[in-house]
Amino acid sequence: MNYYYITGTSRGIGKAFAEHLLENPSNRVIGISRHRSIEHANYKHSYLDLTDVNAISGFKFELHANAKKVYLINNAGVLGFIKPVGKLDAATIIKNYTVNLIAPTVLTNAFIECYDSTDAEKVIVNVSSGAGKNPIDGWAVYCASKAGIDMLSRVVDSEQKIRAKKPQENIHKGFHIFSIAPGVVNTGMQEEIRSAQKEDFSRLEDFIGYKVNNQLSEPEFVSKKYINILANINSIKDVLSSIKDYD
Ligand SMILES: NC(=O)c1ccc[n+]([C@@H]2O[C@H](COP(=O)([O-])OP(=O)(O)OC[C@H]3O[C@@H](n4cnc5c(N)ncnc54)[C@H](OP(=O)(O)O)[C@@H]3O)[C@@H](O)[C@H]2O)c1
Repeated sequence: MNYYYITGTSRGIGKAFAEHLLENPSNRVIGISRHRSIEHANYKHSYLDLTDVNAISGFKFELHANAKKVYLINNAGVLGFIKPVGKLDAATIIKNYTVNLIAPTVLTNAFIECYDSTDAEKVIVNVSSGAGKNPIDGWAVYCASKAGIDMLSRVVDSEQKIRAKKPQENIHKGFHIFSIAPGVVNTGMQEEIRSAQKEDFSRLEDFIGYKVNNQLSEPEFVSKKYINILANINSIKDVLSSIKDYD
């Protein structure tokens, strides 16, 4: 059996990801978000607010005795507000970093701790963004948190490789981690971007254009791509990539 822990399964990319996985009877999905929108015999929902640091700290992964593969997909993310630094509000800054960076870090730590000595294949996927590589005005917290997710992935990857070289370690017990960006996708997040104020966001017209010119990918297409990529992790050449790197 394959077990997938996915954050943000109530809508957008995370929902499509979970629904595609559930088409395979060998998969079990544990979804994590504030709302539930999937009903399926092989789906379990954990109502968790990823801005709540106590709730995140208390989250428990289950040891699945029959697991062939276990995955953590850190997908939930928020853009929050689109305004330049100096016009942000402190409480929202803290909440957005918590969802986008602190929660994935805490969950990744708990995932590695829980499955460390199991023989299943163990894979962590962080849903990253081009915004973690290139600055976008009005998106400071989002860009910084996505850059953080990329570095978290690189550090964990490096730790796992160092560990695999130690003679007493069994390489097969190690963890794989990838930070993979989805491109621009037709979800609620893009609606939020298009509703920004022009004076707060120099690229508003570009993003309106992506929608008008049908340049947004659909979440169903994107999630299928993630699943195909993950079906052959040996083909993933780098810790950081974009789904556009795979055909
Ligand atoms: N759409 C794009 O163009 C695009 C581009 C690059 C990267 N991404 C990344 O792709 C990922 C998914 O984005 P999306 O476009 O699918 O977004 P979306 O449609 O807005 O969905 C966001 C998901 O995150 C969950 N979430 C948000 N705040 C949460 C909280 N406090 N606690 C628990 N869950 C929370 C939401 O669930 P609840 O509201 O039910 O809690 C929802 O399921 C994000 O990491 C995003 O940064 C998206």
